[in-house]
Amino acid sequence: MFSRSASRTLSQARQFSSSASRQTKVTVLGAGGGIGQPLSLLLKLDPHVTRLNLYDIRGAPGVAADVSHIDSASEVTGFAADKLDEAIDGADVVIVPAGVPRKPGMTRDDLFSTNASVLRDLASAIVRVAPKANLCIITNPVNSLVPIASRVYEKAGVYDPKRIFGISTLDVVRATRFLASVTGNDPADTPVTVVGGHSGETIVPLFSQSSYGKGVTGEAYKKLVHRVQFGGDEVVQAKAGAGSATLSMAYAGAKFANTLFRGLAGEKGVITPTFIRSPLYVDQGVEYFASNVELGPNGVEKIHPVGPISAEEEELLKAALVGLKSNIEKGYKFIEA
Ligand code: NAD
Ligand code: LMR
Repeated sequence: MFSRSASRTLSQARQFSSSASRQTKVTVLGAGGGIGQPLSLLLKLDPHVTRLNLYDIRGAPGVAADVSHIDSASEVTGFAADKLDEAIDGADVVIVPAGVPRKPGMTRDDLFSTNASVLRDLASAIVRVAPKANLCIITNPVNSLVPIASRVYEKAGVYDPKRIFGISTLDVVRATRFLASVTGNDPADTPVTVVGGHSGETIVPLFSQSSYGKGVTGEAYKKLVHRVQFGGDEVVQAKAGAGSATLSMAYAGAKFANTLFRGLAGEKGVITPTFIRSPLYVDQGVEYFASNVELGPNGVEKIHPVGPISAEEEELLKAALVGLKSNIEKGYKFIEA
């Protein structure tokens, strides 16, 4: 069912499954949706998860009843719309795919007016009930919603930037898969680092840092970068009004979550790109940025710099920083209004 890299991740998790690694209480907010359902299934399969609380404004008890029959160790409970606080209570990790997805012709930014309020309200409940939980934001636009959540925590006086993550793993998954379709390499062996943010030109794949990727040049390189930056649109168009990526996103969300669980459990050297509060480009007015991050018991342990990149990637990065600055400012404006 899983790719070799995913199976390896799960088998590493099992090898590392001392009692300390099997203690993660997880809540999914938006568990009844297109991402939420398969994500809940994959979390039920993760040996680190001991308790899985599923919440949505509709349908979560049904999803929970279904997933709870799977023969893995975790206990699954569903929570109806009026039981948000109970769903979050005691969580170590809260994963949020709640909100509306795109339709053809829309940008992720077009989701802002609806999803900013959803995220603000959910974050307000989390700071009240489980302020120390690690918050993983899938809902779009990620580039603006991570700043919004961060401000909610700051205003409540409980902000720990090491524990709020925007999930950009789907960009890594896509870059790795799309590179493999050009070079014929095994994607399991050649993950591609993707930095910046999660939308269009803010997505910067670093193919020059991949032994296979650095051989792709000219038109093939341009096409590959474009496909990674606009891979989400491919799915939105193919689904023709029925939403955006759900299955690949659930896979990416579960993959990121497993990485986080391993870091929280004390495993060393757990590194993945994620969109977080970051000092890397603050001097250019960009307070949040995705780069490789080492995860550990406190969430973010170490933020890795982007490292050596090609001239083309320098140009991509410049454009990404402009986009990110405006996305972040939009989030801040909303929460200050
Ligand atoms: P969906 O419409 O299928 O599901 C969303 C779910 O959220 C629904 O079940 C809905 O009832 C629920 N919901 C809405 N408001 C809620 C609230 N206040 N509290 C709890 N639940 C609430 O959408 P989807 O396809 O699952 O996508 C969800 C979000 O994820 C979208 O914003 C989409 O753009 C985003 N997304 C992000 C990535 C990424 O890489 N980060 C990838 C794909 C999709
Ligand atoms: C994606 O990258 O697939 C998601 O962000 C959903 C979208 O709107 O494209």
